[in-house]
Amino acid sequence: RDTKAQVGDYIGDYIAKRINSFHPKPNRPYFVLGLPTGSSPLPVYKRLVELHQKGALSFKNVVTFNMDEYVGIPRDHPESYHTFMFKNLFSLIDIDPKNTHILDGEAEDLYKECEDYEAAIRAAGGIDLFLGGIGADGHIAFNEPGSSLVSRTRIKTLAYETILDNCRFFNNDLAAVPRMALTVGVQTVMDAREVVLVVTGQNKALALSQMIEGGVNHMVTASALQTHPWALVVCDEDATNEL
Ligand code: GLP
Repeated sequence: RDTKAQVGDYIGDYIAKRINSFHPKPNRPYFVLGLPTGSSPLPVYKRLVELHQKGALSFKNVVTFNMDEYVGIPRDHPESYHTFMFKNLFSLIDIDPKNTHILDGEAEDLYKECEDYEAAIRAAGGIDLFLGGIGADGHIAFNEPGSSLVSRTRIKTLAYETILDNCRFFNNDLAAVPRMALTVGVQTVMDAREVVLVVTGQNKALALSQMIEGGVNHMVTASALQTHPWALVVCDEDATNEL
């Protein structure tokens, strides 16, 4: 697509089609949607909200699992992923808040929090569609370079490049950016029945080319998607500059 807005519309419509064609069954009552944060998915969320407001999409049969959350800032911090999701999506649609899941970076036992998250995904029947973004260093969720491609939900120390990247959200104060996060693993994403990646902007061009044209490797964790049976990458013109 030419622009970020067009990418957002395309993916928003695509997800709506999936949700609308989902038929609840007694053993699988909900469509299970995996969600990212970041600036890239914002146009997608805008489109989903528009479709909901037009009456063309309901989230009553949808359960969500977010990819990641910072450790070290409270959940009501303006830059927490909890705040981000409620502000940009959950408060604007008809989803039952009980059906939204986001890792708790303030949990007393972070290891247990990660194990419980994987168990909750399994109990929901697995993720039907995982929407993702990509970091400038090629990461998916917070699976920084060097992460195992069979990793599961766990604590990760953020790469310096990610901390620098995310500085803009913390008044450009490097010291204020959390150093750690809880994140689903690469394998958690790979287990989804379908993965859709939103990749926009010139600053993602190198990561996109490494992910698609490079080999599958743990220094560009999004490259694992080359082996996914049903993965779709939707990008704007700027992101394709290095292809
Ligand atoms: C963070 C998130 C990723 C996201 C990335 C890119 O690192 N954990 O899930 O893909 O940011 O963010 P943006 O879309 O703002 O470039």
